[in-house]
Amino acid sequence: MKFFIDTANLDEIRAALDMGILDGVTTNPTLVARENREFEPLIREICELVPGPVSAEVTATDANGMVTQATELARIADNVVVKLPTIAEGLKALRRCRESGIAVNMTLVFQPVQALMVAKIGATFCSPFLGRLDDISQDGMAMLHDIRQIYDNYGFNTEILAASLRHPLHVAQAAMAGADIATIPFGVIQKLLNHPLTDIGLERFLTDWRKVSGKS
Ligand code: E4P
Repeated sequence: MKFFIDTANLDEIRAALDMGILDGVTTNPTLVARENREFEPLIREICELVPGPVSAEVTATDANGMVTQATELARIADNVVVKLPTIAEGLKALRRCRESGIAVNMTLVFQPVQALMVAKIGATFCSPFLGRLDDISQDGMAMLHDIRQIYDNYGFNTEILAASLRHPLHVAQAAMAGADIATIPFGVIQKLLNHPLTDIGLERFLTDWRKVSGKS
């Protein structure tokens, strides 16, 4: 499973790179707005830092506007993947982007048939939002299982990018469900290694070792 970081913050991206687990980055307008930076230079800097796909989202809501923005975003760097919303105009834009060779991440997917449609048109990534479904008492993980089954039934190449992940259990369950990629906020990445028994065990090993080394 590939790990992407869900952030536009350069320090968080550098820290995840240092951990050696980073395969790519996803941003969205909310995450970019938090950084208080100009959009294109920020995306360019992220693309230079990360040797993997970097998702950058359009803000137009009509197909022509989306394609214009997608073309501009794709020019920033070879590893830009353009994010389009999964609405009717987004599907039209996806088809045109595919024809121009622009890689696309279809975002805001909340039901399996949306995932089926974007795969039929040839999206590079499909982003089901698990946490936001859980927030309204629907089962985000069940949606992910359904999408995996549909893609496997028909041999679609679109990669499933599990998004809106809120805690380590989401990451583990997304991996068990067969998501190709998990995009994870930095705070959750930090929690992935936490287990009290690891800390207690290490402390015990070091205490015992101090006794032995004290003797010699
Ligand atoms: C990633 O591509 C999504 O934009 C992101 O995971 C959404 O997460 P949220 O629901 O926590 O905002």
